[in-house]
Amino acid sequence: RPSEPRMTLKRLRAKYDAGERISVVTAYDYPSAVHVDMAGIDVALVGDSAAMVVHGHDTTLPITLDEMLSHCKAVSRGATRPLLVGDLPFGSYEQSSAQAIDAATRMLKEGGMDAVKLEGGSPSRVQTAKALVDSGIAVMGHVGLTPQSISVLGGFRPQGRSFETAAQVVERAMELERAGCFAIVIECVPRTVAAAVTAAVSVPTIGIGAGDATSGQVLVYHDLLGFMQHPHHAKVTPKFCKQYANVGEVITGALERFKTEVEGGEFPGMSYSPYRVSDEDSNRLV
Ligand code: KIV
Ligand code: NA
Repeated sequence: RPSEPRMTLKRLRAKYDAGERISVVTAYDYPSAVHVDMAGIDVALVGDSAAMVVHGHDTTLPITLDEMLSHCKAVSRGATRPLLVGDLPFGSYEQSSAQAIDAATRMLKEGGMDAVKLEGGSPSRVQTAKALVDSGIAVMGHVGLTPQSISVLGGFRPQGRSFETAAQVVERAMELERAGCFAIVIECVPRTVAAAVTAAVSVPTIGIGAGDATSGQVLVYHDLLGFMQHPHHAKVTPKFCKQYANVGEVITGALERFKTEVEGGEFPGMSYSPYRVSDEDSNRLV
């Protein structure tokens, strides 16, 4: 789709205003970015889920800003059409608005991102979001389950299941909108809570594990494609994730066939041995 125009905040807004749903998928490297681009996905999110699905950690906490920048750079080379949003990683933006502006500026200048995402809607987080927008950096908010807070949340568990916590999710989303966020991710909350948030704010809401009442949906690339299929693998695909393919099986099958053909001497054969010397030189070599 090289002829399609680049997704911008303005085009995303027009899509939302027209009542069309928004598709978001994560990307971490050049090939995933090219695939997300070719499918015409609206937004490519360089998620800190890279810590888990690319680097094999159990949480999103360990990934560094420099590692995120490396992912952002690769994605920005592969995806030219989607809006590019980069996650500010844990530890890169919580201390002060100045720290957040430094990190976010690098995501745009070095990483080639169009916008950043930060987690949470506490007063200090809202202040940071506002400072970023004031400094010219578009911000996507993120409420509900915020995986960077796993230490205080006590695990990857759904949020907003009581009236009080649900009201807090709605309140925080409203504060993030007031701070200038152009869209808000809602993760792992009951459908009714996501519906309440979507009704309360006038920016797109992007759900994950939050039901079908949001303005759009996001899934993690590896989960969506079924990369981690192996029964012995510790990383499980979350319940809310629909697997649209079984890419893990395709990869394993291909690798096993390669091994078999190498061991059996079938590969490369003559078909994959393209280089020749002249017959005369050949006779001198053998
Ligand atoms: O890091 C990530 O993949 C995310 C999405 C799940 C929203 O933040
Ligand atoms: Na994230």
